[in-house]
Amino acid sequence: MNTAAPAPIVILLSGRGSNLQAILDAIRSGELPASVRAVISNNPQAPGLQVAAAAGVPTEIVDHRSYPDRAAFDRALMTTIDRHQPALVVLAGFMRILGADFIQHYAGRLINIHPSLLPAFKGLNTHAQALAAGAREHGASVHFVTSDLDGGPVIAQARVPVEPGDTVERLSARVLAAEHRIYPKAIRWFVEQRLTLRNGHVLLDGACRPEQGLTGPNRIAEAS
Ligand code: GRF
Repeated sequence: MNTAAPAPIVILLSGRGSNLQAILDAIRSGELPASVRAVISNNPQAPGLQVAAAAGVPTEIVDHRSYPDRAAFDRALMTTIDRHQPALVVLAGFMRILGADFIQHYAGRLINIHPSLLPAFKGLNTHAQALAAGAREHGASVHFVTSDLDGGPVIAQARVPVEPGDTVERLSARVLAAEHRIYPKAIRWFVEQRLTLRNGHVLLDGACRPEQGLTGPNRIAEAS
């Protein structure tokens, strides 16, 4: 049994907050030994702020519109985050692009979830991209954030089938359910110090997981 104190994490979001809810649920059920010290949003209207408040998690707003440029916004965000001394900063639907200084400051302790099987379908509207490309399979990826947008080392992926007649709504709901499974799990791996980054590849418990049938050397499957 793990008796260590729960790891402090900070979550950044701009919208709905369903991944935040999944993380809070995993903490509450004892699956994730972490403590959400703060939820920070650039968007004062983000519904995710209500999700946090309902769980008794402190919320803070750093509104990008209050700063003259991205560097000033990033600095204010860093100051706000660092007051909570997080072991890990979790992007959960955070819709601002972060600058190089910010990313460097949190190198190795900043993660994101992206709704595609990276490196496929980077950027926005990933479900529409997948449908337009005729993809048979789609999914979500948790990755370390680097200055390569949606290109950082992948920690975990979840695959879902693309079904005949799928719409963006149906496909995105299927992917979102998978996101809610893998994000708490990937955070658990991080806070339990089971992840290492080597040469831009992520290892779990010191090993790649080729037996799980994934394609690249840095892919770790949903299992475990
Ligand atoms: C998710 O689809 C996530 O993959 C993407 O933004 C969305 C956030 O959804 N980065 P929610 O706010 O967690 O519901």
